[in-house]
Parts: sequence; C-alpha cells; structure tokens
Amino acid sequence: MNQFLKIDPWCLIGEGFSKENHRASESIFSLGNGRFGQRANFEETYSGETLQGNYVAGIYYPDKTRVGWWKNGYPEYFAKVLNAPNWIGINIKIGNEEVDLAVSRVISFKRVLNMKEGTLKRDYHIELNSGNQLKASIIRFLSMADPEVGAIRYTLTPVNFDDTITVTSYLDAGIKNADANYDEYFWDEVSRDISGKSGFIVARTRKTEFDVCVGIDTSVLVSDNCNVSIPESHEEEKFISTTYTVDARQGKKVIIYKYASVLSSLYHSKNTIQAEAKKVLIHAVETGFDRLLKAHTELWADKWEHSDIVIEGDDKAQQGIRFNIFQLNQTYTGDDERLNIGPKGFTGEKYGGSTYWDTEAYCLPFFLCTSPWKVARNLVLYRYKQLQKAIENGEKLGFTEGAALYPMVTMNGEECHNEWEITFEEVHRNGAIAHAIYNYVKHTDDKQYLIEYGLEVLIAISRFWKQRVNFSKARNKYVMLGVTGPNEYENNVNNNWYTNTIATWTLNYTLRTIEFVKETDRTAYDSLARKTNFNEKVELRDWKDIIENMYYPVDKETGVFLQQDGYLDKEQMTTDELDPAQRPINQHWSWDRILRSCFIKQADVLQGIYLFEYRYDTATIKRNFDFYESRTVHESSLSSCVHAIIAARIGEIDRAYKLYLNTSRLDLDDYNNEVDEGLHITSMAGTWMSVIEGFAGKRIRNNKLVFNPRIPDKWKSYSFKIIFRDSLLKIIVTKDSVILFNESDVSVQLLIFENNHVISGNTETKIKIGEGVYT
Ligand code: BGC
Repeated sequence: MNQFLKIDPWCLIGEGFSKENHRASESIFSLGNGRFGQRANFEETYSGETLQGNYVAGIYYPDKTRVGWWKNGYPEYFAKVLNAPNWIGINIKIGNEEVDLAVSRVISFKRVLNMKEGTLKRDYHIELNSGNQLKASIIRFLSMADPEVGAIRYTLTPVNFDDTITVTSYLDAGIKNADANYDEYFWDEVSRDISGKSGFIVARTRKTEFDVCVGIDTSVLVSDNCNVSIPESHEEEKFISTTYTVDARQGKKVIIYKYASVLSSLYHSKNTIQAEAKKVLIHAVETGFDRLLKAHTELWADKWEHSDIVIEGDDKAQQGIRFNIFQLNQTYTGDDERLNIGPKGFTGEKYGGSTYWDTEAYCLPFFLCTSPWKVARNLVLYRYKQLQKAIENGEKLGFTEGAALYPMVTMNGEECHNEWEITFEEVHRNGAIAHAIYNYVKHTDDKQYLIEYGLEVLIAISRFWKQRVNFSKARNKYVMLGVTGPNEYENNVNNNWYTNTIATWTLNYTLRTIEFVKETDRTAYDSLARKTNFNEKVELRDWKDIIENMYYPVDKETGVFLQQDGYLDKEQMTTDELDPAQRPINQHWSWDRILRSCFIKQADVLQGIYLFEYRYDTATIKRNFDFYESRTVHESSLSSCVHAIIAARIGEIDRAYKLYLNTSRLDLDDYNNEVDEGLHITSMAGTWMSVIEGFAGKRIRNNKLVFNPRIPDKWKSYSFKIIFRDSLLKIIVTKDSVILFNESDVSVQLLIFENNHVISGNTETKIKIGEGVYT
C-alpha cells in the first residue's frame, strides 16, 4: 500500500515531486474522453522513469504470439492497444538548458486531477543548474463535448531571470509499445505536413491498417514588452515540430496554447482524414481554450448529475468512489457498438486494451443504471455482432453445429490470448455474456432485444455448453472437465461449481427465452430456427436433461459449495495465517506453490452466489461467505467488490465497508503494488456495485426495483441516482431514513425493506429505517 495523494472529495492532489511515484501518478492522473486517452505524462522533457501512453479507441495491433510450445488451437496473435502518436510534447529551454524535472531542483510541485471538471492541472517551481528559477502552470483536457479535440495551456513565469525561452511543440509518431513482443514499430507514416504553427501526421497501423491522423496547432502569447519569434517548423520521418523563441523577462508570463485533433479511420475515410483533421483543428483553435473548456465541463456536469454517488462524513470513501466513476466515464461513452472497455482503459498497455468478461460481469450494471439505455445496449450488441466469430472460435477447438465460444480476450471477436490453461479454459465467460442479456432486458424491459438479437446468442452459447459437458457414468451426472473458473489460481480443474452453475442457468434462460419469443413473435422465431438450423425437439430435450442432471460439488458435512472437485484435498489454511511479507502471493510464490495452495485469487463460488443469490437462504450465503472470504487473497481487482456485496447482504456492514475501501481505493492506495502499469478500470464498476447493490441492496425482482439500504458507521448519509426503465430515481440514505425522489413523470413501484411503495412522478417518499424487514 502506498498512499501519497491528499484526500479531497472532488480532486486527486499530489503535492511534492517524487520520482518514485511518478509512473504511478502517470496512471492515476490519466485522462480520456471515450474516443482517446492518455497517461499523465509531462509535456516537457522528462528523463526519469516514465511509461509514455496515448491510446485511440478501437485501434489495435495483432502482435504475433510468443510461446515456447505451440499447440493446436492457439491464437496467432495477442492484440495490443497501440501506443499512439504523442501530441502533448512541449519542450522548453531556458537559455541553453532543457527544463527537465528529473534533473532540475524542484522547489514546489503540485498536480491536481479535477474530477468534477475533467481537467489535469500541474504547477511547478524549479531551479535550473544555471540558477534560473521558473514557475509553470499547466492545464489540459480531452474534450468530452468534442471528442476529437484535446487542449493544453502551458503558462511559464521567469522568477528571477531575463533570458531566451525556446518552446518546441511537437507531434511524435515514432513511438513504440513497451510490451511489443518483437520490439517492432507498429506504425508506418502515411503522410506528414507542417507549416508554421500547425501540422499533421497520418500514421497507419501495420497489419490492421487503421489510419490515425493527429493535427497540432501551437501559439505563444507574451506580455507587451517581450518578443516572440515567428514559428519555425521542422520535420523528419514520423515527427513534426514548431519552435518559438521568446525574449522572456522576469515576472512576465509566457502562455503556450496547444490544440490537437485526433481522428481515426473508424470514423473517417482514409482519403479525407487529413482534411477533416484540419477542419476539426481549425474549429478548436477558433473556439479557443476557454470556450472549449466550458463546453467540456458542462458535459462533465451532466455526467455527474446522473452517475455521482455522494457520501457524507467520509472523504476517503467519497474520493474513492468518485475516482472510480470518473475513470469509467472517461473510458466508455457508449455511442459506438464497436467499442468496449479494456481492463486498463486508456491508462496503460497491460491486457492489450481488449475486451474481457469484465464488461458483462462488472461494467454493464454501472452503465445500465447511470446512462441512457442505448449505452448498455451497445455493450450487449457488441457481442451479438461478434457471434459469427465466436462460432468460428468454437470450431477451432472442435465444437460444431453453431456452438459459440466467445473469446476470453478479444478486439474483433477473435480470441487473442494464449495462456492456455489460465485464460483459454475460462469458458465461464460464455455464461457472463448470456447473463448480461438477461440483466439488460431485466433492467430496461427491452424484450424486443431478445427477439432480434438475444435469443440467437443464447442458442449458440447453449449449444456450446451441451457439447462441453459429458455424462459421467461413475457419477450418473453431467460433469464439466478441464476448465478454469474465475479463480485463476486453479487451472484445468474438473467441475468448477461456478462454471457448472452458470452453464445450467444459461440453458434454463434459453429455454424460457425460446418460450417467450415463440409466443410473442412466431414469425421471428421460425425464421431464427431456420437461420440457426435449430432442432427444437432434440436440442430442448438435451438441454433439459443437462439442467436436471448436472453435478455440483458440495461438502456434505458443512454444506459449503466446493470450488471444484478435490478442493478439500488441499491443505486448508486461512489468509490470516499468511505472512504479510509474502503478499501478494503472486509476487512471492512460485506458480506451482500457488496452484497447490488453497488460496483463492478472486470470487468464484461467491461470484455464483452473487449472481444467483435469490436461490439461497441467508444461512447458506453466510456459510459460503465465511468459508471463502477467509481463503481469498483478492489478488484480482474484481474480487473485493463481490465479497463486499455479499457481506452487506448478510448484514456484515463493517466487513463490507473494509472490502469496499479495498476496492474503491485499490489504485489510489496501490494495494496490489502495480498501479504504475495502469488503472483497474473494469473493477471500478465493481466498486460502484458495492455501494448500490451492496450497501443500498438494489435488486430487481418481478419487474420492481428493490432496495434494502444499510449505511456504514462512518457515513452520515449517501445518495445516488438510478435510471430504471422510464424512470429516474434519486435515493438518499441517512442513519434513520431512506428518502426517494422520483425525478421522472411516470410512477414507480418499489419494494423497500420488503414493503411495497408506489411513488408517483415528481414526488418524494420518506421511509424510516426500521419500518419493514431486512432480508
Ligand atoms: C482476472 C480476470 C480478469 C482479467 C482482466 C485477471 O486478473 O483474474 O478475471 O478478466 O484480470 O481484468
């Protein structure tokens, strides 16, 4: 754990410069606007440890896989989110000396990520070797209002000198990925063009041939009695720059404005991309920094209006939750069904920017409740559009007749990960994708989705489960062999309880959906049956048989659901017996030792209990929670949130609170010692879930919103909004009451503490805590 930021409800504040925390800060202070994003690298030269990162949504490179022993079925490549052309660079020289915070004496330093406005600010005061002292104040943002525009204002003040300041603003497309398998460049230059203060580079990705055009425009403003030269441009392969020299005077400000337009061939024709980048850039320059910033902050205000969670009485928790919500909104804005949410978003290279089961299992609920329904729809539609590829992925592994195995890691629908036993065998992702359809429809009531898209996906996934299980004569049951559950610290296991459970749930849901579609739109059903060659009689019979005869490992003595066959053969220990110096175990133990130990990386059985909670009574949930929480090391960012929700469900609010802090401040306090690689974006949605589904106890039952709110001791109150179907609700939970505002025109039926309430449009209801029952 490394807590170096100040606690503040709306801002992240890092005061004082520390080279040791620099890479971590570059991750934490990252910016994004759904279309592109970047780590919080410095604009000026920095010769210390840094991870440079600029990323453009949907632009990737299929980097040829490196493995020791190639086996059939391995994917050819591991997709990499591309480190894209760097447009923020502004080098500054005082006299002949380069400004470089790794070299100069730093007198004061502060960086602030203002989450309310979506801006990154930095102030520094340094002394160079010459004795010249310089103050700088920088602000930059990536426009939410105009998602192809970024802007920087860099203000310099000479503290104790009159000298020449040379400002070189550049665009560099000669960048590499730190994680390139063969140390190759992934970009080729298509064209470059610079004259005076603005210029463009069109760069093309190798193999995938995406074009990205970045334009930059730089101007320098000085006080009346200082001179600034006309801009001088320079170009070389994959690089353009504009240089100004300023006769700077002590105390007189020099202000640099830099605008960028970032366009990709996902949205523009390659023939006209540069002309369009020029238009966007000219418009940004004409609009000017202040007006661009105003439009940007207005959009953020709108996002906060719907997605904020306000916590009173606990600034640490408040900062944590806002940071998570902020990063989620920066990563995905939901206007394009081709885009998705990489586990690191725009903050690092790890996980290749690809889509994991994280989207369906963790991110969807956040977007369902805080955004217009189309945003969540785009997330589920993404998988529908990749169905054919999922069927092909299945075929590569020997599955037939339209059985779909969605990839564990993907950019375009193809599997692009090759950790065979770990990632590949995590077939449970198919279940999460089916469950997301259910969640989406349950929340929005968009049943038409099932008819047009959902059922087709469900049939294909159900066919996969049918072929993936086999009937064991010895057990007289269906079993599923050779899988990895969500807990990656166990590989290639038999009968993972979670996977078997979600498989039969999917089969069941598919059966119900078939009934529904048949009844509602017979023509659509018939045409889907033809399209998928659906053998109704045989397939339904087989699926029912599996549902009725699936094997689930359970410890008969204690009634605990067993993670997989043989789990109790392991030496049983609990996490409090672990030496803290040995944690995280994945940084201290051999893989062999991890696999043999009983320690669990992340929620697995509890993941299933979370999804299908309604099937189990409180005693069963508690029994399993106590057993698994004491064996879980939470070394996946996706873990604590699920445990927090279950702890709240069984009324253990203090434990839920500790787990909540763990998830909400995972990156801010660097619990797992890895934030320098980037942030855990997908688990941030889990943090949101731990407040809404954990403390507030939000569920949907029989088409009704359900709340069972509880409040951690430390909090005076908390409040949030939920978009549910046509309604918008604001909920405030205090120590003694729950206040609900129906901010929409339609009335809403709810169950609060198991009592029915109808709240008419634009009215409020107050319920005393203690009225009604907790379940
Ligand atoms: C987790 C997976 C997850 C992946 C990406 C891994 O550490 O174990 O469940 O999908 O990270 O977030």
